[in-house]
Amino acid sequence: MIMEKDLNEIKFILKKYGQEHLLNGYDKLDESKKKTLLEQIETIDFELIKSLYNKTKEEIKNEKDEITPIEYLDKFKLNEEYKEYENLGKKAIKEGKLAAVTMAGGQGTRLGHSGPKGTYDIGLDSHKSLFELLSDGLKEEGAKYGVTIPWFIMTSRENNEETVAFFEKHKFFGYKKDVNIFFFKQGELPMVDTEGKILIDENGLVKKAADGHGGIYEALVKNGMTKKMRELGVEWVFIGGVDNCLVKMVDPVLMGIAIKKNVTVACKSIVKANPHEKVGVFCRRNGKPNVIEYSEITDEMAEAVDENGELLYGESHILCNLFNVSAIERMGATPLPYHSAFKKAKYIDKDGNLIVPESPNAYKFEAFLFDAFGEVDDMAILRVKREEEFAPVKNADSAGVDCPSTARKLYEKFYGLK
Ligand code: UTP
Repeated sequence: MIMEKDLNEIKFILKKYGQEHLLNGYDKLDESKKKTLLEQIETIDFELIKSLYNKTKEEIKNEKDEITPIEYLDKFKLNEEYKEYENLGKKAIKEGKLAAVTMAGGQGTRLGHSGPKGTYDIGLDSHKSLFELLSDGLKEEGAKYGVTIPWFIMTSRENNEETVAFFEKHKFFGYKKDVNIFFFKQGELPMVDTEGKILIDENGLVKKAADGHGGIYEALVKNGMTKKMRELGVEWVFIGGVDNCLVKMVDPVLMGIAIKKNVTVACKSIVKANPHEKVGVFCRRNGKPNVIEYSEITDEMAEAVDENGELLYGESHILCNLFNVSAIERMGATPLPYHSAFKKAKYIDKDGNLIVPESPNAYKFEAFLFDAFGEVDDMAILRVKREEEFAPVKNADSAGVDCPSTARKLYEKFYGLK
């Protein structure tokens, strides 16, 4: 039974923040949903939502930030150090110190696939899903070192059930659930409309959306995954996206660099295809490692080159990053800034009708993984080859770029399939 007192307290809070509409359909909900809705409301940080909404109206200006280039190593110009790094990394992998995390909590709106992105078949002759391609790579690499690399999959509330059911159907691709493969859900934030009102979903509950790939650190810590990693003897964690079918999660050279240089984060980059490619690139922001978005960079900066003719801001961030467990724990305890994205979102209006918008109507708030890079003292960046490690599946084929057909060709070429 819901106490009258609790309800009154909740109404008071809602009134204070102009969100009274959240209880519009309350009386029509069954007891269990009533309870869920009130619990949802009690956990909303209304101050945060208010300030995030207010920020959507401000033009974001980072002009005061001092942006400078960041050093990087080129994997193919390492000379004699290459072997040293590789040996250090190989030793750590053999000792079971590496785990892999796949971020699969995104909505994959651009691809337009109805299920979780990882279940997508990019059209190879084998018809393997992205999850299976990733699992193949991880198992093959682990076998080289005589270990099974523990695999952690981040899902969201929206796709968790379907993701786990997909893995179950495929017998976890040979992994054992809760032994060497683990699933955990990322956090969420309410979505708001253009007036700052929190949306109500089809079930009469608060409409929430995943809090971005930056939610990874908090989700790993809060769900006990870093604890699990430590129990397994893991010290290094590769974190990558689900939508790069050439992702190389096991790289002794990258690990060796982190160990030798005594840094807690080591990231891979690929050189920009051209100075104006629309990608985020590594930089220093006010002296600390960060990523600058293409929308933030001036033409002059984008085209600037060093004495060897290399772009000063040419190292694209491809979501292929290695972290020490201690760095994840530290980052998980530090709140990241949220960025807003204007998206299409179904909702129930004030008269109880389901509205399915045809154009963006609501703000979603997301943290970006690279905003935590500034938390580390320093990090290493390793430039790798695009054709060996990067085949993204972002868009539907109609876009012609970063889509299933381009990724398939890159995959087939790399593995000599066609
Ligand atoms: P993207 O930023 O490309 O987003 O994610 P997306 O959800 O896959 O696709 P769009 O933008 O809706 O079309 C890059 C990686 O980060 C993961 C995605 O699953 C993908 O592996 N991600 C993104 C999360 O795990 N959670 C999020 O909240 C956002």
